[in-house]
Amino acid sequence: MAEKLWAGRFEEKTNKDVELFTSSLKEDYRLIQADICASKVHLHELRRVDLVTSKEEKAISDCLDQLLSEYKTGTFVLKADLEDVHMNIEAYLIDKLGDIGKKIHTGRSRNDQVVTAFKLTVLGRVEKITQYLVELENTLIDLAVKNLHVIVPGYTHLQKAQPILLSHYFLAYFDMFYRDIEKIVFFKNYLMELPLGAGALAGNPFKMNRQLMSQELGFRRPTSNSLDSISDRDYALDTIYACSLIMQHFSRLSEDMILWSSEEFGFITISDAYTTGSSIMPQKKNPDVSELTRGKTGRVFGDLLNLFTTIKGLPMGYNRDLQEDKHAVFDALGTVEQTLKVNIGMLQNLKINEDSMARNVNSGYLLATDLADYLVLKGVPFREAHKIVGQVVLDCVRKEKHLVDLAYNELQNYSSEFMKDVMPYLDVMHSVNNRDSYGGTATKCVKEQIKLAKKRIKEVANNA
Ligand code: ARG
Repeated sequence: MAEKLWAGRFEEKTNKDVELFTSSLKEDYRLIQADICASKVHLHELRRVDLVTSKEEKAISDCLDQLLSEYKTGTFVLKADLEDVHMNIEAYLIDKLGDIGKKIHTGRSRNDQVVTAFKLTVLGRVEKITQYLVELENTLIDLAVKNLHVIVPGYTHLQKAQPILLSHYFLAYFDMFYRDIEKIVFFKNYLMELPLGAGALAGNPFKMNRQLMSQELGFRRPTSNSLDSISDRDYALDTIYACSLIMQHFSRLSEDMILWSSEEFGFITISDAYTTGSSIMPQKKNPDVSELTRGKTGRVFGDLLNLFTTIKGLPMGYNRDLQEDKHAVFDALGTVEQTLKVNIGMLQNLKINEDSMARNVNSGYLLATDLADYLVLKGVPFREAHKIVGQVVLDCVRKEKHLVDLAYNELQNYSSEFMKDVMPYLDVMHSVNNRDSYGGTATKCVKEQIKLAKKRIKEVANNA
């Protein structure tokens, strides 16, 4: 059993259950690489202020490299009784280098050490998520480009409302996920403030240059208050909030995919590779990816509430409760990464059933607003026009007729303002192209938005 690095003040050994209860290894093993990077920068600064010699710096740095390669090949095994990955690394250095190894923790506390490695690790994961988001956005743009000729019913209250381009629908999701990318870019500002050098809470007394350390580790700047540096977990909450929004957006897309792939809608067919069967009903092909995406959304929201609740009553400073941050953040990050990967694949293999969409867009009364708008252009006040078309619809419902089946002279029974030139208003493509306000569903507007979307994603990809 390894000796505790803080054993000096203690007369009794730690209770075994306490060791298990207080260990953070199950989560913080993920910080190993980041901790080694940050330790090297810390070490370099110790050298600059003459607290270690160049020879000692080299010995410790080489030993850290050796540890990492042993970890990667599985020969370095983390010891459970050493509480966390940070103590394990230090114990390894002491084991290999004796007194030289005992110098690494000079001017550093685990309080600033842990948050530094945590921020670095989260940054890497968030960058990976951004790359996935870019791939997702490109997939949505592809779907928009390929389906410019397809019209689908647009819904409000899940009742048919007005016809829209299928491309317009996919671009709606593009915008939602684009906001997620923008939020991640913004939140990264805080992730990139370096807490190292804050010490346990009050700063360090060795004239260590935190600006230099920040530059060397690729951060934007050092944190400006040592006390806040070690007690702050806002960046962890920001991360889970960004994950929650991504999941929220996926959950709504999933709901559409589940409905649209049902026999009743039949708008899409999800490929076999992205569906599963039933153990009893041979005919079943279930949209489990979408269902689980919807399900896992609750889990990520739970992570957010979990960490909010953990932090809410803590007094200023470091409190051990904060160790619980990693479980919530890594659970959210892991879930989002998996969700992105599998949903991108599903969307790339989606089959669009144009016939079914066309049938559905011509049934129902999606052109009712267009008829009212026609009357408005003839000088009928909108509320009056709304009433007249309402009566047309009511009669169609009674006679089981569609609006597109009406002839213009039938319409004249409801208003003498209906002329032959009303006929284009009974065409869904006319309806779509008529809505040509900026951001509307008209083909020319959607083409404009596709261009803009491509430009935005290119910029993100270049800056990522
Ligand atoms: N394993 C702990 C964590 O991850 C380290 C805590 C160190 N600080 C302390 N004052 N005990 O948060």
